[in-house]
Amino acid sequence: MVAGGPLLVEGPVELVLADGTVCRSDHPVVALCMCRRSRTPPFCDTSHRRRAHPERPPGGPTAPD
Ligand code: FES
Repeated sequence: MVAGGPLLVEGPVELVLADGTVCRSDHPVVALCMCRRSRTPPFCDTSHRRRAHPERPPGGPTAPD
């Protein structure tokens, strides 16, 4: 699992969603959205990257002490 990002699983995969919809991907690695911001659920569309990182200050990382 990528911190703040998707769950990477080995493909191909076939997912059955709660409503019975079946989603299939034949990619060798499949990124599943864990942030619920994807516009293509259940797959990650990199929307998680637009999310602010509270542990990172604006303007970039700080230099080590
Ligand atoms: S984890 Fe990437 S869009 Fe949700």
